[in-house]
Amino acid sequence: MHFLAILIFILLSSTHIVYSRFNTSVIPITKDEPTSLHKVTWSFKVRQWSGEPYLILDLEAPFTWKDCVIRHSEIPCGLEEGCRFPLQCDNPLCKEAKSYFNPICPSLNITDKYGCRICSVTPLNPVSNTCKISQLTTDLINLYLTNGRNPSPGPNQPFGTQFVLSCAPSSLLKSFPKDVRGVAAFSWSGLGFPRQLSSLDVAGKFALCLPSSSAALGVSFLGDGPFYFTNSPNLDLRSTLSYTPMIRKSSKSLGFYIKINRISIKSASISLPKAISVKLSSRVPYTVLRTDIYKALTAGFSKSINGIPTVTPVKPFGLCVKESAIGSGSGSRVPKIDVETESGKIWTISGENSMKRVGNGVACFAFVDGGSKAPDPIVIGTFQMENNFLYFDLVNQKLGFSSSLLGRGTSCSSFNFTEVAN
Ligand SMILES: *[C@@H]1O[C@H](CO)[C@@H](O)[C@H](O)[C@H]1NC(C)=O
Ligand SMILES: *[C@@H]1O[C@H](CO)[C@@H](O)[C@H](O)[C@H]1NC(C)=O
Ligand SMILES: *[C@@H]1O[C@H](CO)[C@@H](O)[C@H](O)[C@H]1NC(C)=O
Repeated sequence: MHFLAILIFILLSSTHIVYSRFNTSVIPITKDEPTSLHKVTWSFKVRQWSGEPYLILDLEAPFTWKDCVIRHSEIPCGLEEGCRFPLQCDNPLCKEAKSYFNPICPSLNITDKYGCRICSVTPLNPVSNTCKISQLTTDLINLYLTNGRNPSPGPNQPFGTQFVLSCAPSSLLKSFPKDVRGVAAFSWSGLGFPRQLSSLDVAGKFALCLPSSSAALGVSFLGDGPFYFTNSPNLDLRSTLSYTPMIRKSSKSLGFYIKINRISIKSASISLPKAISVKLSSRVPYTVLRTDIYKALTAGFSKSINGIPTVTPVKPFGLCVKESAIGSGSGSRVPKIDVETESGKIWTISGENSMKRVGNGVACFAFVDGGSKAPDPIVIGTFQMENNFLYFDLVNQKLGFSSSLLGRGTSCSSFNFTEVAN
């Protein structure tokens, strides 16, 4: 065997990742301004490292995929593109991937002729809601570790760590931002980043801090911290978190849900159905509400900004005002929205997360009417998550939330990405 092939074989043979000093990895997040989607790349040296693609961050994807081609080469090969190790059908991760089969995707029976030599799956583009038939394979990923303050080189550098993902034909990239080449799964799935790539003792815990603009990086952490941002060097962000139970609807369900008891604005309760389940979604830019909830919340908000003149609404929103009338920062006249979670803890939505500046001096109430038959009564979108520190604990099934970090003088773009030695 070729030397490199032997080396890779050894790397791939180790069953799980052995981390040295730190057990938490760090992944930068970039906002795609035109679509409001957020994307990740393993490497934070985005400019220097052109080899790694951006992938859409997806809280509901069953597995990660990117546009790659699997060539079944008889010649042992090294790290070059196209040299991969396809999974067989009896691999436990193959079985798990297949358990999330999406009925909107084409049937996999045309792959029967390959028998157990491949693991056929159907990667999905969550923007166009289309899928293609492809197969699971292994790739190498170079994650950076962190002591909570700075990144440092991860294990197995420069080769990286084995990771299972699906290839997909380039045609599946249609409707994605130009520089995006696939999807990164941050879901309940055993193939998602949090469970597949964390060291064993912290597997299934990850933090998400979405940036509010494309001008600076946000950050995701795989592991249990600590987490520090530059503006508050002594504040471990874990200490800012309130927790509430996080629900997995079934073993086939990939979305993250919490329950809420009530919503109030300036201590006036919005009238809502009892114990509503709320989904957190990276696929929608603005929180989507079922019509009855949308109407109740918009009416309550409207009442609370009594005196601020409204202007013609700008789609997809239904309530807009003159930006100059609402102010910003601590002088903001936008009332806070208090969401009481199942645990009794309050997730406060402040003006930065409730009013979207749409241009021409207009700001809109950034919630969208999802229709009276919306499958989920409330789906929290990325605009409402930006600059909030969210900590997903899949093991103990709870969600930690900080509310807006801006009120604490920091933001999701405050992680120090200067690399230090391990
Ligand atoms: C990382 O995990 C190892 C193995 O469980 C443990 O000994 C070590 O203390 C952990 N390191 C940190 C910084 O938590
Ligand atoms: C695959 O499944 C579809 C729908 O279930 C069926 O119509 C088709 O005949 C099957 N094809 C093969 C090759 O078995
Ligand atoms: C970022 O980290 C580097 C390396 O530790 C340090 O020299 C620099 O001062 C830090 N920057 C900020 C803004 O804290």
